[in-house]
Amino acid sequence: MSPQARSELFYLPRADVARALSHIDPVAVATDVLKAHARGETDVPDEGYLGWTTPQGHSARSLNMPGLIRGLEPVAGTKIINASLGNTARGVPRADGLTFLFDPETAHPYAMMDAALISATRTAAVSAVAVGLRTRPAHRLAFLGCGAQADAHFGLLLPRLAGLTELTVYDRDPAGADAFLARHRTTAEAAGVRLTVAGAAEDAVRGSDVVVPLTTVTEGYIRSDWLLPTATVVHVSLDDLVAEVVLGAAQVVVDDWQLVRTDPRRLLGRMYREGLLYGQDEPAPPGPAKQVDGTLGELLLKQEPLDESGLTVVNPFGMSVQDVALAHRVFTAATELGLGSRLPR
Ligand SMILES: NC(=O)c1ccc[n+]([C@@H]2O[C@H](COP(=O)([O-])OP(=O)(O)OC[C@H]3O[C@@H](n4cnc5c(N)ncnc54)[C@H](O)[C@@H]3O)[C@@H](O)[C@H]2O)c1
Repeated sequence: MSPQARSELFYLPRADVARALSHIDPVAVATDVLKAHARGETDVPDEGYLGWTTPQGHSARSLNMPGLIRGLEPVAGTKIINASLGNTARGVPRADGLTFLFDPETAHPYAMMDAALISATRTAAVSAVAVGLRTRPAHRLAFLGCGAQADAHFGLLLPRLAGLTELTVYDRDPAGADAFLARHRTTAEAAGVRLTVAGAAEDAVRGSDVVVPLTTVTEGYIRSDWLLPTATVVHVSLDDLVAEVVLGAAQVVVDDWQLVRTDPRRLLGRMYREGLLYGQDEPAPPGPAKQVDGTLGELLLKQEPLDESGLTVVNPFGMSVQDVALAHRVFTAATELGLGSRLPR
């Protein structure tokens, strides 16, 4: 679309985003973005974080996450994703937001679309890239938390884990775990995977080759002695591990170290501040500390698998450029499919 044609704002509601996404391979998009990021072809500023306590006393936040992928056809935009912890009890999704695309020449926003599904899909796609870097077969997979991210991870991880026979899920809300089971049991069985609900997080984690925390906790609870010595933890919800797991890991891989270390709230950012974790090109702090081994993009560029000699922690902070790249693909597919509507400016 030429800059002149952008006197209208293209809007895509969630159902249209879902239809457009069904024509896209999100794991391929995530892979390309991770590689572009490792080649230095992206701009990922620190996220803008606004936190508050709602009038009813719940913790709420708004994240503004801009990003740019450079190149002959640059793609720019931002994701605004908000959440209130009171929403689930209110019967509405915890998180909701919008992703915007900007004209690379005029900088004007030209498209706006529901962000939640794109965000869940790009997050699960990055996790799929991470588990795809394993060389050992994974027989058992565990999800902690059975919300929107768990649904997206179910769809993208199962096809990429050859040899998987069991998926064990746990949610602190038993109804949430049962609903997950009801939504996915038939598909899991068709894929030869037994889907079960654990009564405790520890039961789900013990014996699992791949563990994916998808909760909303703010304090760690997954201990080293729960984990198989060669497990892969894809630490999507960023606060489920206790520090000793990261300190004892054979390998710690991130998507972007700058994002991880700048954030003072989640585990790895806190460990950085406490001198327990440091980056690839940074001097070691005094005392016992773990060095971050690299990024997913670097492993992809080097065509290197995860180090499975011990425990691997993959900590994908979540990069705006993943949302923006996927949103751009959604915009292109939606235009071809005649979806969405055009709002006057
Ligand atoms: N790293 C990333 O790129 C990235 C991207 C998007 C979301 N996230 C994070 O992923 C997490 C999940 O997101 P979502 O959209 O699925 O949220 P959601 O609210 O839809 O689901 C969260 C689920 O976790 C459950 N839960 C909460 N605490 C638990 C605990 N201690 N043990 C077990 N289950 C627990 C809740 O009952 C709920 O079912 C959030 O923390 C979110 O911030 C990370």
